[in-house]
Amino acid sequence: MDAHISEIADHEGREVTLRGWLHNRRSSGKIHFLTVRDGTGFVQAVMSKAAVGDDLFQAADHLGQETAVAVRGLVRADARAPGGFEIDVRHLERVGASQDYPITPKEHGVEYLLDRRHLWVRAARQQAILRVRHEIIDCIRTFFNSRGFVLVDTPILTPAACEGTTTLFSVPYFDHATAFLTQSGQLYNEANAMALGRVYCFGPTFRAEKSKTRRHLTEFWMVEPEMAYATLDDVTALAEELVAAVVQGVLDRRRPELEVLGRDTAPLERVRAPFPRVSYDEAVELLRQDGLEFEWGGDFGSPDETALAGRFDRPLVVHRFPAAAKAFYMQPDPERPELSLSVDVLAPEGYGEIIGGGQRVDDYDTLVDRLRAHDLPAETFEWYLDLRRYGSVPHGGFGMGVERVVAWICGLEHVREAIPYPRLLYRLTP
Ligand code: 4AD
Ligand code: MG
Repeated sequence: MDAHISEIADHEGREVTLRGWLHNRRSSGKIHFLTVRDGTGFVQAVMSKAAVGDDLFQAADHLGQETAVAVRGLVRADARAPGGFEIDVRHLERVGASQDYPITPKEHGVEYLLDRRHLWVRAARQQAILRVRHEIIDCIRTFFNSRGFVLVDTPILTPAACEGTTTLFSVPYFDHATAFLTQSGQLYNEANAMALGRVYCFGPTFRAEKSKTRRHLTEFWMVEPEMAYATLDDVTALAEELVAAVVQGVLDRRRPELEVLGRDTAPLERVRAPFPRVSYDEAVELLRQDGLEFEWGGDFGSPDETALAGRFDRPLVVHRFPAAAKAFYMQPDPERPELSLSVDVLAPEGYGEIIGGGQRVDDYDTLVDRLRAHDLPAETFEWYLDLRRYGSVPHGGFGMGVERVVAWICGLEHVREAIPYPRLLYRLTP
């Protein structure tokens, strides 16, 4: 009977066939210890000469790492075994050969590993990260679906910028001059929210900034909710609840993976809404108290974010950034028009901004002014201006970058491990 390693406990005392790959192998004279993995887990398969005969026993001594194997054997409980069970091998079939697998248990440099990312994903640690990523995405979908948000997909090929013209990838597009890979689905989300009330999009987004920091990918996944009849406070509350729900979901269901990653879960346990909140003005004051020279008006850099977040033991909400530091669509603060009704959420432990959003300009004339101030062509935004012509209402939303959240929750040094095939300034392969 075929079995998966993750469910091996259900088969104790029975003979099963595992179909997987040889992860590792060591021998002590008359016994081979084979670590087999099948995608659901790892298990030790113990092969004795007495049980399988000389020929198979000898052949097994030459199986290379990552040979595809079907292993038939008896499931036996063993308190010393990592998962609590071992397999006493009765038979082994070589399904696909593997010789000189390039990723060995010794240390490799990260560029070497990234060049072989298509194989590196088989490593236990990388599998754990990808499972946590899957869980995070699942939590996000469940969170929005259970609150009545409608998933509406937004285009990837777009005619114009959303987040500033300096960070766009262009693509030749038939008779049109150029198309651009989307930086955010937000503008379309706003249209969809006027149709369906509460919506979200969830897909790949692209940024062409020539940044080499550990927080930047050129292609990353972003979830973006958008709500009609919503204020900055509604947006902030939703962001807090989402972050708390995602962290809790991973703690509930992915402890084994966090353990593989050596993640200290104590800081994650503290992530409960509401989060501490500071205004941009207060944040600047805090930075100056820390001795950092920070000029009022700009966006925070990584060191600023790390210093600010480091003062708190939970994610930090920063609101009301200067309008000049944010995108054209931000609603000005009615009490201080030089500020915008914007909000960022900064992750603790130095992981920086994971969420950016706010309330959108809902007045036609203000939006026309803002487009002009940002040098954006009114023609391409005519459809977006329509939303202010026909039944405009206060509305808002945010974007959360999946890889930044994965990197934070997994405790990774760099976002490049948080996505299956990272796209970076100097990397487009494999
Ligand atoms: O702050 P950003 O640029 O906001 C927007 O794109 C808005 N239009 C979203 C909205 O309101 N609907 O990006 C949102 C989030 C950031 O907080 C960060 O988590 C992630 O997207 N992000 C990146 N992640 C990885 N690599 C990059 N280059 C990223 N740029 C942004
Ligand atoms: Mg931002």
